Amino acid sequence: MLTAEIIRAKRDGRELDAAAIRRFVTGIADGSVGDEQIGAFAMAVYLNDMTTPERIALTEAIRDSGEVLDWTTLDLPGPVIDKHSTGGVGDVVSLILGPWVAACGAHVPMISGRGLGHTGGTLDKLEAIPGYDVTPDPARFRELVRDAGVAIIGQTGQLAPADKRFYAVRDVTATVESIPLIVASILGKKLACGLEALVMDVKTGNGAFMPTHAQSQALARAIATIATGAGTPTTALITDMEQVLAASAGNAVEVREALAVLRGEAADSRLYRVTRALAVEMLKAGRLAAADDEAGERLDRALASGGAAERFARMVAGLGGPHDIVEATDRHLPEAPVVRAVHAERAGRVAAMDTRALGMAVVELGGGRRVAGAAIDHAVGLSEIAALGEAVDGERPLAVIHARSEADFAAAAERVRRAVTLGEPGAPRPLIHEIIRPDDAPAGQGERS
Ligand code: URA
Repeated sequence: MLTAEIIRAKRDGRELDAAAIRRFVTGIADGSVGDEQIGAFAMAVYLNDMTTPERIALTEAIRDSGEVLDWTTLDLPGPVIDKHSTGGVGDVVSLILGPWVAACGAHVPMISGRGLGHTGGTLDKLEAIPGYDVTPDPARFRELVRDAGVAIIGQTGQLAPADKRFYAVRDVTATVESIPLIVASILGKKLACGLEALVMDVKTGNGAFMPTHAQSQALARAIATIATGAGTPTTALITDMEQVLAASAGNAVEVREALAVLRGEAADSRLYRVTRALAVEMLKAGRLAAADDEAGERLDRALASGGAAERFARMVAGLGGPHDIVEATDRHLPEAPVVRAVHAERAGRVAAMDTRALGMAVVELGGGRRVAGAAIDHAVGLSEIAALGEAVDGERPLAVIHARSEADFAAAAERVRRAVTLGEPGAPRPLIHEIIRPDDAPAGQGERS
């Protein structure tokens, strides 16, 4: 089938077979399909959607467009599993979760990304640690996944190369917001890591990539269905992003908070609870625990014994960072020159938070990027961010701002004040809205959502 015929069929609302989809994706990777054809195809999918078999075929074709990691030769004693998040503000879960489940016997080859728009990126956070190398050679990566049980690194050009080009065209043709394309893009990259099981954290709320609950639910269901259909059993959790997840947002500030959780100093924070819920699902998905209680006990032991923190330390040292990051955190992480609280103009309780605006306040401080590839300031950000429902006054600030200059502090203070609404808080929102397990995911022949 000619490329133009594949596009025509999708344009006319016909179902494509797996061979046609694979041919198209192979053409994206080898350059034989032009940018204009990718754009037309993406728009046809955006307008006409894809059936479940088409979505599975697209995901598998993107996954197979480059190297697919194979862990079997290492004969690992535990399962190879991972988590992926759709991204949020103060979402430093990966830094805690990877080492934590590794300490329980899992192997986690986590390929992470950089900040995107208002959301932070795991790689940017890790690069706040001096010396941490997010692009080790493949042999080092494999060694760490085997020995430390976890390595968090950046995307390599060899994994799912079709996605990079496909996404770049979608970005400039108004076709990013399409569930089949998002699912294939996220999963194509993740499933190329050779996972036995995956847990997805799909955020919902005003700081999420998909802000409405209906959109997040559609995305979570599609991800669980398509990944499971493509041979990687996947559980999706819909978690709350109606406020900043951690009490901080930025790079070094979030690493500090993650380390506090790993040292067992932040039990019961929202960050801890969301991370633990994801970890429970990972242990079950990897058959390291049969039920929630068993998984929870195993996780509690790994945190209390220092095992999880030790895995983090091994990963950091193994990737070029300092050996004592857990004990001497402040010695290694950068600190901004201006660190000062911002208070509300009157006392009151936090009734609402524009989470996206707080993420953008971090970007404006220099902690994120306005253009791809720009340098970022790892020291800046927000800490001690007041939670929904919390009382603020002359004593309790809205947040502490970490800024490069007084002028940056003043601009960020204004942004933080505008982003927080004081008043009567509504009923507390659940942290975990829904869990969709592989068994709930319909096998789905030909349905469209
Ligand atoms: N993240 C991705 O990796 N791909 C998308 O299409 C959207 C978000």
